Amino acid sequence: MKILFLDQSGKLGGAELSLTDLANFYRDNCLVGLFCDGSFKELLEQKNIPVTVLTNQKINVRKTSSIIDSLGSISSIIPLIAKVAKLARNYDLIYANTQKALVVGALASILSRRPLVYHLRDILSADHFSRTNRWIAVTLANRFSSLVITNSKATQAAFIEAGGRIDLTTVVYNGFEPNNYRIPEFNSHEIRQKIGFKQQFIVGHFSRLSPWKGQHILLEALSECPSDIAAIFVGDALFGEQDYVEYLHQQVTALNLEERVKFIGFRSDIVPLMKACDLIAHTSTAPEPFGRVIVEAMLCDRPIVASAAGGVIELIETDKTGWLFPPGNSQHLAQIITTCYNHPKQAQTRVNQAKIQATQRFDLHAINHQIDQLLQQLLS
Ligand code: UDP
Ligand code: GLC
Repeated sequence: MKILFLDQSGKLGGAELSLTDLANFYRDNCLVGLFCDGSFKELLEQKNIPVTVLTNQKINVRKTSSIIDSLGSISSIIPLIAKVAKLARNYDLIYANTQKALVVGALASILSRRPLVYHLRDILSADHFSRTNRWIAVTLANRFSSLVITNSKATQAAFIEAGGRIDLTTVVYNGFEPNNYRIPEFNSHEIRQKIGFKQQFIVGHFSRLSPWKGQHILLEALSECPSDIAAIFVGDALFGEQDYVEYLHQQVTALNLEERVKFIGFRSDIVPLMKACDLIAHTSTAPEPFGRVIVEAMLCDRPIVASAAGGVIELIETDKTGWLFPPGNSQHLAQIITTCYNHPKQAQTRVNQAKIQATQRFDLHAINHQIDQLLQQLLS
């Protein structure tokens, strides 16, 4: 089976990291076509996964775009659609990993007469997308795709709620290779020293900086926690959220947290950094479609507290494998952080349980095979 994967991003978000694991499985028989150059292409090249950048032109549709903006930009992507259609004739199917990839992939699939699979990794609700964008995604998926893989039940439910056809959908969680989360001779002390925190209890936040990822909620919570609790923010503003970054820095000053907070930017060494933390916090204020960081924390043997909405509720069993708090409720988050700080044994019990569950439920090998079965069925 030969697959043409399409992804709009040049940067490394969760959708791209997950696609890397899948494309790696098909590396001898696939091509990843990107709509942008950047670190995603570099990662695929490092892993010897065939990749090409299909256009240098920026596609100007945002999550909030109106019908006029969207129609205007469809005409500007006609050359890209033609290019993908031509390329697709050498492949058995087109696999769209993002929304703009769905738009291009849908039209290219008609021209090339190749089936289209849409891996839906977004919650198609008003929290995240304009009405126009939701309509475009659902209409194209309903009409042109043969299969819609959703990254959680929450993502599936939102697709159906927005008018998507239930019969097209199958839920497949992200897969993870447990061995990648083991470090034989791990020196937490050295890493903590490099970060600049030694004795403090460190809460780690691993996410791109974006208002809906809720870094500000952790800052608010931190200001209500004992003073030897600190936080590190790992991740960058990937999609131009500079105003938010500035706001976060102002918030640090206003809450007097300068000595207790570090922003360390985008990092590819997530595992040692997570292991050096005492607790991982996920703080999205809008429903998170899946939330890779949650499973990663579990595989790194770290306690996890996460905001209870979207796919997150499917990942954490409250009181058993982690802690959940209502999205945006910084006081509740502060109480949970303080509990973990005061009761490390209680946290360790959940960590052990979470590790067992995560290893069983999100095994990369099993999940790649699950997707492979779905694609084989579709082609037969
Ligand atoms: N991540 C990373 N470096 C960073 C921050 C985050 O590699 O500096 C990774 C993180 O480990 C996770 C992914 O980016 O695998 C983010 O995926 P998630 O599903 O949590 O959120 P998304 O950004 O896709 O909405
Ligand atoms: C998207 C979602 C995120 C999910 C990732 C992988 O980036 O925002 O929640 O974990 O895709 O499917």
